[in-house]
Amino acid sequence: METKTTVIAPEELQKQAEICGEIRARWAEAGRTPRAFVDTYGCQQNEADSERIRGYLSQMGYGFTDQEEEAQIIVLNTCAIREHAEQRVFGNVGALVHTKRAKPGQLICVCGCMAQEQHVADKIKQSFRHVDLVFGPHVLWKFPEFIHTLLTSRGRIFQIPDEAGSIAEGIPVVRQDKVKAWVSIMYGCNNFCSYCIVPYVRGRERSRKPEDILNEVRELVAEGYKDITLLGQNVNSYGKDLDEPMDFADLLEQVNAVPGDFLIRFMTSHPKDATQKLFETMARCEKVAPVLHLPFQAGNDRVLKVMNRKHTIEQYLDKIRALRALIPDIVLTSDVIVGFPGETTPEFEDTLKVLEEVRFDALFTFIYSPRVGTPAAKMDDPMSREEKLANFNRLVALQDSISEEKHAAYIGKTMRCLVDGESGDSRYPLSARTPGNRLVRLTGDPAVIGQFVQVKITDANKWSLFGEMA
Ligand code: SAH
Ligand code: SF4
Ligand code: F3S
Repeated sequence: METKTTVIAPEELQKQAEICGEIRARWAEAGRTPRAFVDTYGCQQNEADSERIRGYLSQMGYGFTDQEEEAQIIVLNTCAIREHAEQRVFGNVGALVHTKRAKPGQLICVCGCMAQEQHVADKIKQSFRHVDLVFGPHVLWKFPEFIHTLLTSRGRIFQIPDEAGSIAEGIPVVRQDKVKAWVSIMYGCNNFCSYCIVPYVRGRERSRKPEDILNEVRELVAEGYKDITLLGQNVNSYGKDLDEPMDFADLLEQVNAVPGDFLIRFMTSHPKDATQKLFETMARCEKVAPVLHLPFQAGNDRVLKVMNRKHTIEQYLDKIRALRALIPDIVLTSDVIVGFPGETTPEFEDTLKVLEEVRFDALFTFIYSPRVGTPAAKMDDPMSREEKLANFNRLVALQDSISEEKHAAYIGKTMRCLVDGESGDSRYPLSARTPGNRLVRLTGDPAVIGQFVQVKITDANKWSLFGEMA
């Protein structure tokens, strides 16, 4: 693998912009307004990438549709994190055979993390012959060039170079939301947790320059965005690779200094790199939302070691205590994997102890899924599926009761919430977020969408809070 990350030259991106212009002119000449369908799987990083794919498509003259059969081009931006995510994609790609048969000339593209896996690309090449284009995250910036080739010549394109990755500034963006926005601050991951595919498909850690990030934040605030999430697989190691190194806490401070009324969130943080300086910065910066997503994955030190997480559970708990001492009402969320190879039920029970000790506001729980090419996939995994599922259900039941209790404690409180959209619930038509990002279903008029309002919490269940404008 190429180990050095690169910055894509502005001239290269200019060339892509020119290709977009050529494609737009072709459609205009044909007197047609083509449509694109973009389907996104996986994490916020992929959502952010899809906004750039839409940006390029829009520059190429495409409008958007949510009906596959109307689209001249279909893009599936995929996720490789677990088997289930991959099966869904294969099912959906398979079904597109019929869509394409009914619409000759339709282009079908598969990109994202799954596309970067060689065995997936091989399978698509052999078994899904209706797919025209497969490209990995490293070459997303060349998307217009690929489309131009497909529109002007015959054949299929497979582009999944095995690189450390690059940074491309200035790709156009069409955002999906008017209130909340993603800002990638870095790409890739160096941690190689033994179960995880991300470092293999997303390349090495590389940080965007602070001035590029700050400019993007300023633009978003000027456009009226109220909730900005700084994204990276491990934001706490931001800046180590910059020509002038800085750390994530410094970046947070600088983003906080951008004038305007908006909230700053960030994810994901790795416990080994979450520092006292970060916690102090969070406590001091008034725009930084009082919430931290800090995955601990497993409650047992032996399991953590085999997972290559590089911290013990005591170190994790110490950090939580330090953070709570500074921000007592911090909202805490985490990720947990159940059924890692070799994890015994008593070891799993250590995970339950962590839940009881920390009392997270919410938890994202996963059953371990072997990923081709990762060290854990080669480990002995003697526990039966049934036993894993039984442990998983115990975990979910415990967290549900904690979430319910934590939510009940909000009843009667009044807090400043951001109304971020409609809820689809006729009794509580609006959806809002507390500063700590808990979901509130709200009565009121859609005119307040995009505004901060004082909300009185009137009811709660394990999933959400209910409220009215105070
Ligand atoms: N970079 C983030 C997480 C990215 S993936 C971090 O380090 O926290 C999101 C979550 O998916 C992980 O936190 C982990 O809990 C889960 N996950 C990753 N690989 C998995 C696998 N092979 N099987 C099951 N869950 C997995
Ligand atoms: Fe995967 Fe670990 Fe990197 Fe997160 S930190 S993306 S879990 S390897
Ligand atoms: Fe999935 Fe890739 Fe994100 S594997 S979780 S989309 S980084």
